[in-house]
Amino acid sequence: MKTSLNISILLLLITGLFSCNTKDSKDGNKGALASNAAEKVYVAPGEHDEFYAFVSGGYSGNLTVYGLPSGRMFKEIPVFSQFPTSGYGYSEETKPMLNTSHGFIPWDDAHHPDISQTSGKLDGRWVFINGNNTPRIAKIDLKTFETTEIIEVPNSAGNHSSSFVTENTEYVVAGTRFSVPVPQQDIAINEYKGKFKGALSFISVDPEDGKMSIKFQLMMPGFNYDLSHPGRGKSHGWFFFTTYNTEEANSLLEVNASQNDKDFIAAVNWKKIEEYVNNGGGKMMPANYAHNVYDDFTHTATSTMMKEVLVVDPLEVPGAVFLLPTPKSPHGVDIDPSGEYIIGNGKLSADLTIHSFTKMIKAIENKKFDGDAYGIPILKFEEILRGTVKQAGLGPLHTEFDGKGNGYTTFFISSELVKWDLETLEVIDRKPNYYSVGHVMIPGGNSAHPFGKYAVSMNKITKDRYLPTGPELEHSAQLFDITGEKMELLLDFPTHGEPHYAAGIPASIIKENSQKIYKLAENKHEYATIANGDARVERKGNEVHIYMTMIRSHFTPDNIEGVKVGDKVYFHITNHEQDFDVPHGFAMIGANNSGLLIMPGQTKTTVWEPKEVGVWPFYCTDFCSALHQEMQGYVRVSPKSSNLELSWSLGDD
Ligand code: CUA
Repeated sequence: MKTSLNISILLLLITGLFSCNTKDSKDGNKGALASNAAEKVYVAPGEHDEFYAFVSGGYSGNLTVYGLPSGRMFKEIPVFSQFPTSGYGYSEETKPMLNTSHGFIPWDDAHHPDISQTSGKLDGRWVFINGNNTPRIAKIDLKTFETTEIIEVPNSAGNHSSSFVTENTEYVVAGTRFSVPVPQQDIAINEYKGKFKGALSFISVDPEDGKMSIKFQLMMPGFNYDLSHPGRGKSHGWFFFTTYNTEEANSLLEVNASQNDKDFIAAVNWKKIEEYVNNGGGKMMPANYAHNVYDDFTHTATSTMMKEVLVVDPLEVPGAVFLLPTPKSPHGVDIDPSGEYIIGNGKLSADLTIHSFTKMIKAIENKKFDGDAYGIPILKFEEILRGTVKQAGLGPLHTEFDGKGNGYTTFFISSELVKWDLETLEVIDRKPNYYSVGHVMIPGGNSAHPFGKYAVSMNKITKDRYLPTGPELEHSAQLFDITGEKMELLLDFPTHGEPHYAAGIPASIIKENSQKIYKLAENKHEYATIANGDARVERKGNEVHIYMTMIRSHFTPDNIEGVKVGDKVYFHITNHEQDFDVPHGFAMIGANNSGLLIMPGQTKTTVWEPKEVGVWPFYCTDFCSALHQEMQGYVRVSPKSSNLELSWSLGDD
């Protein structure tokens, strides 16, 4: 019976026959109800939103910033992808941010953002996000909303169970989705079972400056590690990872990884492993991974190749790792604000499975084991189970919490958001989602202190929700008011890329600290031009370095002669403005990279390699003043054989 039910659900998934709920007026999109919903999302002109939402950009590789409740998009923060808007990943200063052990990688698939915490509360210092394809963790500084650090994760592939922080941001944690040979080697794929490993990486975060460093990698059996979440409160010190493919199949996983009735949630006592490592435990192994850091004062990133990583075998630390049986192929694992409930649902199931942390500890103490996997004890299912929410929907994925005793779980197959009571395990309310919801986000939902005012569903399929834009539609988010007993749909808004999770935070925690300019006096860029009189052009062989300044509404120097075909021309441009929101842009005809957008007090560099003789213009791309169109200049390019000396005109002569 159970098997046939699961197979029919599987068929639903395979054929894509998800439930397309039809619109109905109960959702508040008609008449008086609609005007009530409109009032709740209306942010009057000039007023500010109450929350920031940092929404993962999925295959855009970036992170987008929205306001809630308005759903207005404020910014796209470039993280793992080149971004011609600002020159990120094109400018000489930021190219090192995208360096990896595979060389320069201009793109990734960004997944789960998580905001830093102190004592289980969002502190608004940084937001972390994982690169899924070429495993990396990035840190975005919420003073500048710029990506300031990216660390590659070795021994990992499909960095999916990432990037989630512990309650004091001691660690940002990353787990591998694909197990791989460790170290990488040329072996037959059908030797997968027993030979491939799954690395769970604990990346420490310096409490002062946020600097990341891989503290250790736990080398787990070759399962697929799908998602993870930290313990908190009573379960602080533990981290939980869902697994699938505990069958360790290596082909046709949709069938072969669904054989076992149960997979596991791996419970990792990281404090115990940390202590072991601090006492000299673990083994250094050769590795090769990039650690890229952007400096706010030199405005420049550096990339360092790291050559070893500390690995820990779970069997060396008895009592540190246990496996919690969970109905097959669970996707999310979510921990309630108290740290007691561990929610992990078979993603083909109709029920939610809730484990108890207290019962887990008791089962460990009383050795209530049901065998082991590669020596890691498997706890008895009935000893750890707190209970199930019965027939809550179809295809449960992720759960967030409102801090008032309720869980909100998304169901992909039945396409709905379901509110349920953490104590009684009763379903309280359900609302259809348009369509096929993946993640849900409540601001602070992955912390001990959620702000249970809104829930945002992030849907995978848009179809008829917006005006058609050809075959490709942006994904759609839906905002719910969750302050009442029943949820109320307030707003649909498009999101960019494919959002996999989001992190929301009250704007008040961040906005006062938001930086307005870079101070020119603190600019330590190697090629900065601080005094206008220092603007100049220098030749070093075939390199021409232009030390340029920009201020409303001219470049200094503006006309440059003596450049030759075959030269590499470096424009090092410093924006001398010291007012909030007065960037200047720079564009050079025929440049093979991108323009630059340079913030007040900042220096950026772009390279141009002229291929033809002539007189070639450049200009400012940002409408900065009434005389913006006058903000321009020329470079005269002579033949390679020319003897013309460099010369330039300064604005004042
Ligand atoms: Cu400077 Cu337009």
